Amino acid sequence: MTEQSRSPALDWLDAAAEDRAARHVDRVLRPRPAHDRVIDLASNDYLGLGRHPEVIEGAVEATRRWGAGSTGSRLVTGTTSDHSALESELAEFTGTPAALVFSSGYTANLGAVVALSGRGSLIVSDGGSHASLVDACRLSRARVVVVDRGDVAAVARALAGRTEERALVVTDSVYSADGHLAPLLALHGASRAHGAVLLVDEAHGLGVRGTGGRGLVDEVGLARFEDVVVTATLSKALGSQGGVVLASERVREHLIDTARTFIFDTGLAPSSVGAARSALAVLRREPERARRVLEVAEHLAAVTGADRPRSAVVSVILGDPSRAASAAARCAELGLRVGCFRPPSVPEGTARLRLTARADISDADLARASEVLARVLEEHGHRLTDSSAYLGSTGASRSAASAGASTGVHS
Ligand SMILES: Cc1ncc(COP(=O)(O)O)c(C=O)c1O
Repeated sequence: MTEQSRSPALDWLDAAAEDRAARHVDRVLRPRPAHDRVIDLASNDYLGLGRHPEVIEGAVEATRRWGAGSTGSRLVTGTTSDHSALESELAEFTGTPAALVFSSGYTANLGAVVALSGRGSLIVSDGGSHASLVDACRLSRARVVVVDRGDVAAVARALAGRTEERALVVTDSVYSADGHLAPLLALHGASRAHGAVLLVDEAHGLGVRGTGGRGLVDEVGLARFEDVVVTATLSKALGSQGGVVLASERVREHLIDTARTFIFDTGLAPSSVGAARSALAVLRREPERARRVLEVAEHLAAVTGADRPRSAVVSVILGDPSRAASAAARCAELGLRVGCFRPPSVPEGTARLRLTARADISDADLARASEVLARVLEEHGHRLTDSSAYLGSTGASRSAASAGASTGVHS
């Protein structure tokens, strides 16, 4: 930008950028080449479906049939017969009566939470909720109570003490920062006891947990309850883009009529619809992909001393953001791409390497990745027991250390 085009009205951005740099929480975009020899343990392509030939073909074929874009909002021209087919297939796969596809998981959360709450209602939000659920709470105009992560008693107290007639409890099924599981059955028990609806974001559960990747909600037997509404993204295990709400038929109809991120947003691109449909078909045929991703995660946890993983996410806590950033950069130098989560994505003092297991990683790449991780962690003075020591040896200290660990952080 030339000096002339700079506006003093935005000079405050410089101070804000300096502040982020001083706290080592500034971010850099690193465009990746189409092909490199880097081993990827950072992407959300948990099942390796994003580049699967059938999934690519699904995207290409749908693009040929429908064009590059969906041409309009879902209620005008943006619903193709492929959108409807994808919705039926997603509902069938997850064991829920109906599905409604959105343009992303983010908009699915915004749309569902706002449409199912609103002024005069209460939302109880789990402290580990993703940023999209946090933003949904803010948009909802409901009274919002945020409880510590996984604190079912606090959820029950908030519901019991309410004056509002309607209430919604929102949580991730698999917490995105560290891959731990939310206590869904207990949350549902508390919600049901107090006449509330439970909304569960399965972004990291779909394709990974449950029989053949049907998700944690299905695994714990909650898929067919009308008071459990599920949201998910199509961009992680399914290797595509887009989001979905899985619910009863009348909830679906309510969302079609009232969810603003459904009504005022262009329908999901046909290529993404085609890719998601093909990914689902591959997953049905090859359910072992879901098991494999957990095996890879367990291997990575053993190598790094991380807590035993319950999902594809393995979190290696290094504490200080500059230490975490330096370890991630060193991994990259050695040909391994890992995620690095720092505040505000995670609570202060819990900056971490975030590794995501992939079902399609070869044994050779896994061995090489393990070597690199062991070397880099040693260079950074991280002992194999550090992550678990950090979290403490009891369940109580573990939940305290990770309370608030979220990619959202309510404020
Ligand atoms: C828990 C959770 N919910 C929602 C989203 C948003 O999904 P999308 O990327 O499809 O907007 C993500 C990730 O990006 C996520 O991790």
